[in-house]
Amino acid sequence: MNKIRVTTLNRSYEMLIKRGISDKITSVLSESFNKINKIFFITNNKIFDIHGEKIIKKIERCYDVRMLVLRDGEEYKSSTTLTNIYEFFIKNQAHRDDIVIAFGGGVIGDTAGFAASTFNRGLILVQYPTTIISQVDSSIGGKVAINFKGIKNIVGCFYQPHLIICDPDLLNTLEEKEIINGLGEIIKYGLVFDHKIIEAVNKIINENPGSEERLKNMIKDKRFDEVIFRCSKIKSGIVEKDEFDNGIRNYLNFGHTIGHAIEKVIGFKNISHGQAVSLGILCAIDLSISLGFIEDSFKKELLELYGALKLPVKIYSKNVDDIFEAIRFDKKITEGKTKFIVLKKLNEAVIFNDIDETIIKNSIIKNIE
Ligand SMILES: NC(=O)c1ccc[n+]([C@@H]2O[C@H](COP(=O)([O-])OP(=O)(O)OC[C@H]3O[C@@H](n4cnc5c(N)ncnc54)[C@H](O)[C@@H]3O)[C@@H](O)[C@H]2O)c1
Repeated sequence: MNKIRVTTLNRSYEMLIKRGISDKITSVLSESFNKINKIFFITNNKIFDIHGEKIIKKIERCYDVRMLVLRDGEEYKSSTTLTNIYEFFIKNQAHRDDIVIAFGGGVIGDTAGFAASTFNRGLILVQYPTTIISQVDSSIGGKVAINFKGIKNIVGCFYQPHLIICDPDLLNTLEEKEIINGLGEIIKYGLVFDHKIIEAVNKIINENPGSEERLKNMIKDKRFDEVIFRCSKIKSGIVEKDEFDNGIRNYLNFGHTIGHAIEKVIGFKNISHGQAVSLGILCAIDLSISLGFIEDSFKKELLELYGALKLPVKIYSKNVDDIFEAIRFDKKITEGKTKFIVLKKLNEAVIFNDIDETIIKNSIIKNIE
């Protein structure tokens, strides 16, 4: 088992990473907590059917479990869902020494996490992530939130979990589009922080290059656990140094400035966040090339990896100006500064607060179909 200790201002907690750890869920809980009262298990209908029911049955044998099954989808990361969770807590008399298990992807982790952080001034929170994004990113670091009035993550807070349980086996049932969604984040970690991540992904994927099932085979491969571990270790290290997102946590936004703008222009329904970030990463690489930091050959190699991982390589929108405007709009709501993170070289990133408009537009044009 890989264990990562995350030490923050208010809490020090462990992330346990082990393929198949869900089989031993009751002993994991009993070893992690001295005393367990009620357990509030929150998930969505899709994950409940695939994994949740089996896991709850195990926990129920030892503990008093109250279950809430929400509906699947980003649109349910809402104030209505939050109210439903609070009502569920009230009905079941949730106390501060009760445990909330958020079992699902980032949507469940963020929503149930926010409810747990605010109800009765904070319940015990266990993040139990089931997607790549949630295992390597959203479950770690305490950002919990809901969307409100169409604005993503606008109502939220920092609330570190008390434990993270990470079982890479749960990823085996992800649809391919969700695997692709998570791979952009993994590539980001590899480019900005740890090239061994890219090497490992390259190695696994190139062992069955042509196979239709290559992405599913990759996440089933035991060596992929090391990829998850390395990414989680990076995220937790950054959170320890910059818990409240005032400094180096910004580096996690590599590819996100242009990625968010692409997402907005193409439409949230037409492109996944991970795909938009992958395209944003390509633009950030072109920015790095234009600024004279890295060579063209770097991008060529990256594009080969993108192809193998079925990541998008072209932006399906001719509208550079709209993408640029979307970046400018973001700038307005981030106090006039657009942060561009570029690579000086592999695993060495640098933040620029403003870059010449022509250079930015060219980096987008180069990646347009
Ligand atoms: N808190 C943070 O720091 C942070 C960081 C990144 C993203 N996020 C948030 O996370 C959310 C995105 O997370 P996500 O990509 O995990 O999306 P998600 O939670 O919507 O999950 C994606 C889809 O996969 C399904 N699913 C989950 N686990 C599965 C499994 N094991 N097998 C089969 N299907 C499964 C879900 O039901 C859903 O349909 C966004 O709301 C984003 O804002 C938060």
